[in-house]
Amino acid sequence: MVATVVVSLATSLLASSGSHSSSSTTLFFTKLRPSSGLRFSFAVAPLCSRRAKFMAHTIARATLGLTQPANIEHPRISFAAKEIDVAEWKGDILAVGVTEKDMTKDENSKFQNSILKKLDGLLGGLLAEASSEEDFTGKAGQSTVLRLPGLGSKRVGLIGLGQSVSSPAAFRGLGEAVAAAAKTAQASSVAVVLASSEGLSNESRLITASAIASGTVLGIYEDNRYKSESKKPQLKSVDILGLGTGPDLEKKLKYAEDVSSAIIFGRELVNSPANVLTPAALAVEASKIASLYSDVISATILSAEQCKELKMGSYLGVAAASANPPHFIHLCYKPPSGPIKAKLALVGKGLTFDSGGYNIKTGVGCSIEIMKTDMGGSAAVLGAAKALGQIKPPGVEVHFIVASCENMISGTGMRPGDIITASNGKTIEVNNTDAEGRLTLADALVYACNQGVEKIVDLATLTGACIVALGPSIAGVFTPSDNLAKEVFEASEVSGEKFWRMPLEESYWESMKSGVADMVNTGGRQGGAITAALFLKQFVDEKVQWMHIDLAGPVWNDKKRVATGFGISTLVEWVLKNSS
Ligand code: BES
Ligand code: MN
Ligand code: ZN
Repeated sequence: MVATVVVSLATSLLASSGSHSSSSTTLFFTKLRPSSGLRFSFAVAPLCSRRAKFMAHTIARATLGLTQPANIEHPRISFAAKEIDVAEWKGDILAVGVTEKDMTKDENSKFQNSILKKLDGLLGGLLAEASSEEDFTGKAGQSTVLRLPGLGSKRVGLIGLGQSVSSPAAFRGLGEAVAAAAKTAQASSVAVVLASSEGLSNESRLITASAIASGTVLGIYEDNRYKSESKKPQLKSVDILGLGTGPDLEKKLKYAEDVSSAIIFGRELVNSPANVLTPAALAVEASKIASLYSDVISATILSAEQCKELKMGSYLGVAAASANPPHFIHLCYKPPSGPIKAKLALVGKGLTFDSGGYNIKTGVGCSIEIMKTDMGGSAAVLGAAKALGQIKPPGVEVHFIVASCENMISGTGMRPGDIITASNGKTIEVNNTDAEGRLTLADALVYACNQGVEKIVDLATLTGACIVALGPSIAGVFTPSDNLAKEVFEASEVSGEKFWRMPLEESYWESMKSGVADMVNTGGRQGGAITAALFLKQFVDEKVQWMHIDLAGPVWNDKKRVATGFGISTLVEWVLKNSS
């Protein structure tokens, strides 16, 4: 029996005509719907109508720098779970995931593991010889690909899994190593098998197969939209051997596909430069999700005037210096049928660029050159929306909220010392214009609470202090709710993403007091990630379970200089936990 699922790498994000004329699209809607109604909703993409296309075309503005991301057709990788003998598999690479224990040999230097023994037998002992010559011991991160005659497969790859493995993160790593080997060998067909899979329960076989599949898809993917030339990935098919077959596995592979393409979507949002991905372009991307899944997702996009009517002075203060107008994004997911048992909100920081404002980012290490990533929280939220639109879980309503804008400098901009008023009436003395994320989130959190939700998770590239505390790959988690912490940490165990709970130390609020307003927006260098979280807490109803996730570190892969898509898989897992 063969379970097959086709994984497409990504949709043509930001590469259609729509996104480039995004600011004009907004103009069109603002003109059509004057401030008589507070908001407008649409379930169909704005640019789908002929009129909208016409308007977009006639008033389109060229992107600064004339950059047009290429519309790259991503190849599809098809995954098939098969129960066939490794010796009979034919293709480019047969990749075997091996632990250090699997590599143990008997007194005659022969493998004890049955799969390795069989392969080595077919190869006349060459596998044992080559692996010991290459010093391959099965350690995590080790891998070796050998071109050997005598098998249906052109090559055999050994991929180290460490001492013994069980975590989804380790199997995602296996998928990534398989992808790397496939790229090097320009392979179009690979098979993956675990040297020892006997001990695995049915449930862990499913999790393992889907982790291998998503690791492979995400490992193969490269964002080449902004390169004038790029190589096409060759990999077309991946056979997963020895982990079973059937409808449960098929369903799990489909889930891996949905989440992986949402992660790719999120990565492309973050990789997109700020001259292309303006707040208006982000709103268009959100609207596209709503039109693609119009059976379950609706979109509301608020203009600056509409936000003003909602008294969002804190958010609008940040947006005030920018020539690119702010766009407040609200997507709402409702299941296709059945009762709703839980109402959730995901709120994401959506600064398409953060210059710091008058407190401009200067000096080595200020990271101003990567501040296009300051919408990483919103990429996680919109990525989750995309995956959930595809998965359509029952029993749960989810609001996706992003107060998107740029933090720039101009004569109309907010000055240090200005006092601004948020939509819950609280006043803020802005002692640092570079602490802008919390100002946008303040109004977004008030808006989220007004949707009548029970739980809110916000995600934000909020502080450099959180990177200092936890390093580049771990996100900080702040919440007064032990229940919510438990739910999200359980979700992260499946996703493999790294989180660490931090304290909401109330005594530190002292540093956030103002002489003239209700609070200042920054309190000194010490405990900067904590005081930022305490600031956000001022804008959340006490009845609502709330969590703040600071993902300033893990949003970006500094070595590869690309976005990670961090947060999406954990958020999707968490929402599914709350579905019925
Ligand atoms: N977007 C930054 C945080 C950031 C810094 C993200 C580096 C990724 C990499 C945020 O808006 C910011 O500027 N925070 C300030 C806060 C300070 C002024 C209290 C910071 O961390 O320096
Ligand atoms: Mn800032
Ligand atoms: Zn910022």
